[in-house]
Amino acid sequence: MQELKDTIDKSRLPRHIAVIMDGNGRWAKEKGQDRLYGHFHGVESVRDIVEGSAEIGLEYLTLYAFSTENWDRPENEVTGLMELLVDTIRKEVPTLNKNNIKLHVIGDMSMMPAYAHKELAEALEETSKNTGLNLIMALSYSSRWEMIRAVKQVAIDVKAGKVQPEEVDGPLFQRYLATSAFPDPELMIRTSGEFRISNFLLYQLAYAELYFTDTCWPDFRKKNLYEAILDFQKRERRFGKTSEQLQQPAGTI
Ligand code: IPE
Ligand code: IPE
Ligand code: MG
Repeated sequence: MQELKDTIDKSRLPRHIAVIMDGNGRWAKEKGQDRLYGHFHGVESVRDIVEGSAEIGLEYLTLYAFSTENWDRPENEVTGLMELLVDTIRKEVPTLNKNNIKLHVIGDMSMMPAYAHKELAEALEETSKNTGLNLIMALSYSSRWEMIRAVKQVAIDVKAGKVQPEEVDGPLFQRYLATSAFPDPELMIRTSGEFRISNFLLYQLAYAELYFTDTCWPDFRKKNLYEAILDFQKRERRFGKTSEQLQQPAGTI
C-alpha cells in the first residue's frame, strides 16, 4: 500500500478528481441485505478516499453522493440516504478540521429538507478556514439542473444590462456554474462497472480522463484510488492537439 502510494508522481497529480460513487445497492443485495446497508458501508469508503486524497496532497475531490434524479427512488431509501449523508457530514467536521479539509456542497438545495440546510450550513462554516483539500459534495446535483440555472441567470443579467450578449464566452459561462470556484476535474472515476456519466459535470468533464472499475463503491479504498491515479499518469492528454505537437516546446508548432 505504502509502495503503491510512493509510485505516484506527485509532480503530475491531477488537481481535481471527481467520483461517481456507484454500486451500493448491488453490493448490499449480493450480501442479502437491503440497499441502505450498502449506503451505510459506502460511508466507510468515503472516509477512506477523503483521507487518501488528503494524504497525497490532492487539491480538489468531488464526490457525487446524490443526484437530482435520485429523489425519485422509493421514499424509505431517499429519507434514509439523505439522513445518512447529512449526519455523516455533520459528524465528520472535527476530522475534516483536523486534516485541514474545506467542505463545499453543490446541488439544488431547494429540494433538500430544512434540517439539511441547517446542518450543511454549519458544516460549511466550521470548515471554511481550512486550506488543504477541497472536498466538494454533489448533493441533489445534476448537470442539466446546473446548466439550465446558469443559462437562466445569464439571461437575467443580460436583461438587467449587467452582461452584454457579446461578452458571453467560456470563462463567463463558467462563472455561473455551481463549480465556478474549482478547476475542471482531470480524472473522473466511476465504480461498479457502469459506463455512464449520469448527468454529472457534463460541461466540466469535457477533457477529463475517464476511469471505470468493476469494484462497487463500498469496496473502493485508497488502494483503488491510487491505482486510478497511476493509470491517469500513464495517459497522454492531448486536448485536441496531435501527439507530435505535445512533444514540442510550447510555441514551436
Ligand atoms: C450509489 O449506489 C449511491 C447513489 C446513487 C445514491 P446505488 O444506490 O446507485 O447502487 P446501485 O447502482 O443500485 O447498485
Ligand atoms: C449516479 O448513480 C448518481 C450517484 C452516484 C449519486 P445512479 O445509480 O443514480 O445512476 P444510474 O441510474 O445508474 O445512471
Ligand atoms: Mg447506481
